[in-house]
Amino acid sequence: MNVLILGSGGREHAFAWKLAQSALIDKLFVAPGNPGTAQIATNVAIHESDFTELEDFCEREQVEMIVVGPEAPLVAGIADYFDGKPVKIVGPESSGARLEGSKAYSKVFLERYGIPTAKYATFSMAEADKALAYLRAHPLPVVLKVDGLAAGKGVVVTSDFAEAEAFLNTVLVDAKFGTAGNKLVIEEFLDGIECSVFILTDGTDYQLLPMAKDYKRIGEGDKGPNTGGMGAVSPVPFTDRTFRHRVIEEVIAPTMKGIKAENMVYKGFLYFGLMNVNGTPYVLEFNCRMGDPETQAVLPRIQNDLLALFNALFDGSLKQHEVAIHPATCVTVVCAAEGYPGTYPKGRPITGIEDIEDAMVFQAGTGLDASGQLVTTGGRVLAVTAYGEGLPEAREKAVAAAQKIQFQGKQMRADIGTDLLRFA
Ligand code: AMP
Ligand code: GLY
Repeated sequence: MNVLILGSGGREHAFAWKLAQSALIDKLFVAPGNPGTAQIATNVAIHESDFTELEDFCEREQVEMIVVGPEAPLVAGIADYFDGKPVKIVGPESSGARLEGSKAYSKVFLERYGIPTAKYATFSMAEADKALAYLRAHPLPVVLKVDGLAAGKGVVVTSDFAEAEAFLNTVLVDAKFGTAGNKLVIEEFLDGIECSVFILTDGTDYQLLPMAKDYKRIGEGDKGPNTGGMGAVSPVPFTDRTFRHRVIEEVIAPTMKGIKAENMVYKGFLYFGLMNVNGTPYVLEFNCRMGDPETQAVLPRIQNDLLALFNALFDGSLKQHEVAIHPATCVTVVCAAEGYPGTYPKGRPITGIEDIEDAMVFQAGTGLDASGQLVTTGGRVLAVTAYGEGLPEAREKAVAAAQKIQFQGKQMRADIGTDLLRFA
């Protein structure tokens, strides 16, 4: 079977790495991909939002399945576009992608199906005064979220009223977020430990995948601005049997009920961003895709043929599969460019990948210069994943390997997973 992966990051390199091992794969394509995916698949220069171009390509190359990495094409309706056409899309139609595409809708959904979530109120641009009055009466810290997709820049968590007020004005008065900021959610701050839970679902049945924790801040000790994610750990030591049971009963089961009741067409990944507050799993957000860099720590722990699992989404056999999970721990450490998550330089030569023996490298913001030298092209440049018998070993191996990667101004967090050692 010929398969096309959509996207160009470390998550997509990890998908390519896993799908290349499938017994069912014939040709594997990645659009647009990166130099890492080019080593194991064929990169195709098509933009992720160019659906007609993708359709032509699939027809020409007899591609039967597109695995969608990022959220934007899903929210824009790629699965709706291919509905009734001979290409299966791993990813929900826009009705399901809305769980990620609109925070206001996701809060209504969470409330409607009785899923634990932070208390909140939603305000439109016409209600900026009401929003400010609500904010004034709200205890600190407080959380503000723009409704639509904002590339990780749409959430502010703050104890500083002036900062909250400024953000409110940026969104509702200055309209700096465009239509994504037509609405603003103001919600209660939840104090706990975050973790990421993933399922693969056909809209009726689901398979629970390994859980992970991601590290969002740029600096060690979780300091500094938010990023797309600077590292990940799987499994998460505090997600014991009791917690998992509560996640299944209180979060996943009612979500599945809601997906049915709202008539969503959902065949793909669903990612629950959770806050564990004294053992209760609260949903902070839904994502309609896998996480990045969580994928780079989760996929290496799945022993199944991933393409067989994907095929099962389309023939009703998902529940007959069993996900076989590797008992090892995986730790992923991201190497990011100087200045990230702000502006960053591009074109810096990357060396040291060939010196890494005991870990995997998933490329993200990389390119080749005119001489064929691997150079930086993005904020998150690459991710290094190591297996270990437990968290301490996986951590040490991943950090040691990431330290071998060299490029000018490299940023990495050597503390990925240290906060979890007390649970391990
Ligand atoms: P979201 O995009 O909704 O996941 O928010 C981005 C990040 O903001 C999350 O990963 C959390 O670290 C933080 N966050 C979001 N909502 C809350 C909340 N209600 N309480 C505390 N932190 C939050
Ligand atoms: N690592 C967070 C995300 O993928 O949204």
